[in-house]
Amino acid sequence: MKLIITLAVLAVSHAHIIRPACDLISIQSTIYQKEVLKENVSDPYQMAIDYNTNTLFFSYSAANPITEGDVFEQAYLNLKTNEFHIISGIIGGFAATVDNTNHKVYLGGRNGIYAFDNEADKATHVNPNGYSIWQLFFKDKLYYTAYPQERAYTFEGGNSIIVPELSDTMVQLVALDNDHNMYFSNSSGLFRLNKSDKLIVQLGEYTINSFTADINGNLYFSTPSGFYNIDNNKNVHQLVDVDDVFGLVVDGDNNFIYGSGDKIIRLTPTTKKHCF
Ligand SMILES: *[C@@H]1O[C@H](CO)[C@@H](O)[C@H](O)[C@H]1NC(C)=O
Ligand SMILES: *[C@@H]1O[C@H](CO)[C@@H](O)[C@H](O)[C@H]1NC(C)=O
Ligand SMILES: *[C@@H]1O[C@H](CO)[C@@H](O)[C@H](O)[C@H]1NC(C)=O
Repeated sequence: MKLIITLAVLAVSHAHIIRPACDLISIQSTIYQKEVLKENVSDPYQMAIDYNTNTLFFSYSAANPITEGDVFEQAYLNLKTNEFHIISGIIGGFAATVDNTNHKVYLGGRNGIYAFDNEADKATHVNPNGYSIWQLFFKDKLYYTAYPQERAYTFEGGNSIIVPELSDTMVQLVALDNDHNMYFSNSSGLFRLNKSDKLIVQLGEYTINSFTADINGNLYFSTPSGFYNIDNNKNVHQLVDVDDVFGLVVDGDNNFIYGSGDKIIRLTPTTKKHCF
């Protein structure tokens, strides 16, 4: 289909100079340069950064030669050297988060949570018989959501506990701000649970596919068509329209890194003004 559209466009515009796609993008009056960090990773999803080691964790879809279907696998990319490693020992690895204070990386798969030791390149299953993990988010403790339950839990001292205030509601993704207000999404949109009065308010009908905190705990999220942030006054802002987004993170230098199609792309501020 894409090929047909491309050919049609070429046919119409053959008399003009054909320009390559623009590699600049403007976000809140700053111009960023696109740089492909990794290609040929299908649907790069559920990303997290270990700010201590400058490592990006993510999941992607890989073909399963036995079932001939797709399975989720996880990998990491060294953001300095672009070295790429596939993580083994996790069944259906999908979710990732980092406790950047205690230098701990957590990964989630089809049967629970794993602690990942970067130096030993080894994943240890920390809750045998756990639920299938949809998403992980570290704040004061480890939070996660499970599928097909669509509920939010904490995991602490070896125990999973449902988040009491959200025990009656569907939760797909969860995140906490620096005041420990809890943000969560489900198929109805984005909601905030106020830490002090426990009231839940709807913030919008976004179709959220990733939630992330930058190195200072500021929250960002993505939908398939754009990036958003939540400011200090707890208001949501759309930052930019981007096509085909699977997930977003913000690196230690405030560059955006996102998964799109079969690529992982970094957006770095540039002084360039035009594509040419
Ligand atoms: C990506 O995959 C295509 C098709 O399989 C292949 O031709 C290309 O060399 C790959 N690129 C990289 C950087 O691995
Ligand atoms: C999503 O969460 C809100 C707030 O708890 C709830 O009112 C709504 O019913 C939930 N949507 C679904 C599809 O469960
Ligand atoms: C949370 O509730 C408290 C008490 O009602 C209120 O003062 C505060 O502004 C609320 N925070 C948000 C983010 O709505």
